[in-house]
Amino acid sequence: MPFYEVYFHPVLIRYKTTICTKATLFVCIVFCLTYIPPLLVAYRSQGFWVKRNTYEEQPVVRFQYQTLIIAATSPSGDYVAWSTFPNFNNMQGTNLRIPFISVREEDQNQDGKLDLLKFQLDLPLTPDEQVYSIQLILTFSYQLFRMSTVVMQTLAFVQHSSSVPGSQLFISGDLQLQQRNPLPHRGLHTIYNVSVIDGASPFASAYDLANVIRSYQNRNLTTVLFCPSPVWIVGRAAGSPFQINAEIRYPMEVIRYPLVCLHASVCELSATYLV
Ligand SMILES: *[C@@H]1O[C@H](CO)[C@@H](O)[C@H](O)[C@H]1NC(C)=O
Ligand SMILES: *[C@@H]1O[C@H](CO)[C@@H](O)[C@H](O)[C@H]1NC(C)=O
Repeated sequence: MPFYEVYFHPVLIRYKTTICTKATLFVCIVFCLTYIPPLLVAYRSQGFWVKRNTYEEQPVVRFQYQTLIIAATSPSGDYVAWSTFPNFNNMQGTNLRIPFISVREEDQNQDGKLDLLKFQLDLPLTPDEQVYSIQLILTFSYQLFRMSTVVMQTLAFVQHSSSVPGSQLFISGDLQLQQRNPLPHRGLHTIYNVSVIDGASPFASAYDLANVIRSYQNRNLTTVLFCPSPVWIVGRAAGSPFQINAEIRYPMEVIRYPLVCLHASVCELSATYLV
């Protein structure tokens, strides 16, 4: 015949002991093991009070086709210059020299984001001119989307000089993000969506490289062209132009952002105890 339940009541069993016993010691040890190792693990693993965190993102970068170049053509201070800013060109007078430029941006891994800029500039020279130094500014539009949306305009600055006249400057580098502060983790961030060079300005000071770089470096979020090994090639054939060859990569960036301190630590603690 099957059994069936007629009635039930829970039973509470209390185990009592005095303070100085092995049982008390055992309970203390168990208590300590429950709380202290998780705290140590949490402390050792991430740092207990996490205030910052990072994520990876490849930015969306586009070359803006803005260019400014100044080349010293003698050791005594002669130069030629050109830019995509008409006001700047008008100020150059006889120093204006119009180069031939070709630009290609490539998406090498077909993920919809451009990875590489190939920039070539041929600067025509008269027979008695030689190139001793180059200063070049290129501007980019730079966007991040993963946490906060960042839209800004940035630049790459190339400067190289030599006591020996050159025929070509070859540059291969990365356009790297420089963050002075952690980025907010959400929201739209457009305060730096302003032209790096104010092309509408009729004043020479707007195109002065020292001024441009000073106000650019005042920003908390910039890019810098990291190019540890520029190659200066000498031996230019008579009548051939000076050439700049640049390969600029747009790499994956590690972006710092703040965590709300209390919230993060509480989350971490509770996660530790749940495990
Ligand atoms: C950024 O600036 C460009 C050019 O000035 C403008 O077309 C664009 O709408 C701006 N983007 C944002 C999100 O403000
Ligand atoms: C840039 O950073 C400084 C300190 O790090 C801060 O005081 C300033 O407000 C920041 N500027 C902008 C525009 O965020």
